[in-house]
Amino acid sequence: MPLIAILAGDGIGPEVTAEARRVLDALDLGFSFEEGLVGGAAYHATGHPLPPETLALAKRADAILFGAVGDPSCDALERSLRPEQAILGLRKELALFANLRPAKLFPGLEDASALRPEVASAIDLLILRELNGDVYFGEKGMRTTATGLREGYDIMSYNEAEVRRIAIAGFEAARRRRGKLCSVDKANVLETSQLWRDVVIETSAQYPDIALTHMYVDNAAMQLVRNPGQFDVIVTGNLFGDILSDQASMCVGSIGMLASASLSDWRSTLGLYEPIHGSAPDIAGQGKANPCAMILSVAMMLRHSLDLPGPADRIEAAVSAAIGKGVRTADLGGTHTTREMGDAVLAALDA
Ligand code: IPM
Ligand code: MG
Repeated sequence: MPLIAILAGDGIGPEVTAEARRVLDALDLGFSFEEGLVGGAAYHATGHPLPPETLALAKRADAILFGAVGDPSCDALERSLRPEQAILGLRKELALFANLRPAKLFPGLEDASALRPEVASAIDLLILRELNGDVYFGEKGMRTTATGLREGYDIMSYNEAEVRRIAIAGFEAARRRRGKLCSVDKANVLETSQLWRDVVIETSAQYPDIALTHMYVDNAAMQLVRNPGQFDVIVTGNLFGDILSDQASMCVGSIGMLASASLSDWRSTLGLYEPIHGSAPDIAGQGKANPCAMILSVAMMLRHSLDLPGPADRIEAAVSAAIGKGVRTADLGGTHTTREMGDAVLAALDA
């Protein structure tokens, strides 16, 4: 019986995870579930955002459903104890280096998009974000300059093996989609990006069937709002991918709609599944959060980790049907609650 680790975390994490859990229960796929403490919730209960029991559970599980971490009451803690370290630690400890963030407009959300409807409805892209390297994991610290000024620093680096494995994941993803890969970097300024670009080009020799292009990240940010329909798969580093995926989410209506999968290989079945949104402490506990990103993360989990494409399709169709019926949480400009959105998805699953 597959074991699913449920790590709900902070803020709206528990609310949206509860709806995802209802969807899983309705599908009755014969999984077992085990919950673990993570993020600020774990810090307050145990003194650490990623307690050893939670890490052990994540390693033991067949898949991990992750809500969100982030808690303003932890802002003053030293960095290693802050909630965000839990998700960074899980990504690193489980070597989940390939982060799939698909963005597609659900019919009916044209007016929720920040873009004109005809521009938004052309969006069907996948951001493949590297998750184990870059400035996120380089040496960092605070120091004092020779003239006595405080200085913060974070080293950005990628080695060629790290770039090659995400490049391969990018080409493989493009092969399963429309055959186009756009590698996003800042090679006009950064050495890290020059190596990135060199290695992507080297790797492309094994993928003559894929149309490879390169784009500087500033241009990519502009193109994402100018003509996002041009993109199929975007492969990029950890920091650029973090930024571009939030931007892409508003192009398809709301950050409350984007799911993600973090995998340890493009063929891997071990994965962590989470919405790309954060813990949204400003609306936590009010029943306002959109559970769709979390529910769609369940669909990604069924597809990538549990080889259940049928139920995954059913969940995506149910979310689409709920949206099609006009159910809208606040982020989508409506007044429906988290539970009502969950109810609408469940009703569509039954239909
Ligand atoms: C994300 C989030 C995380 C990140 C934070 C919570 C550490 O923004 O998954 O996009 O920066 O990767
Ligand atoms: Mg982010």
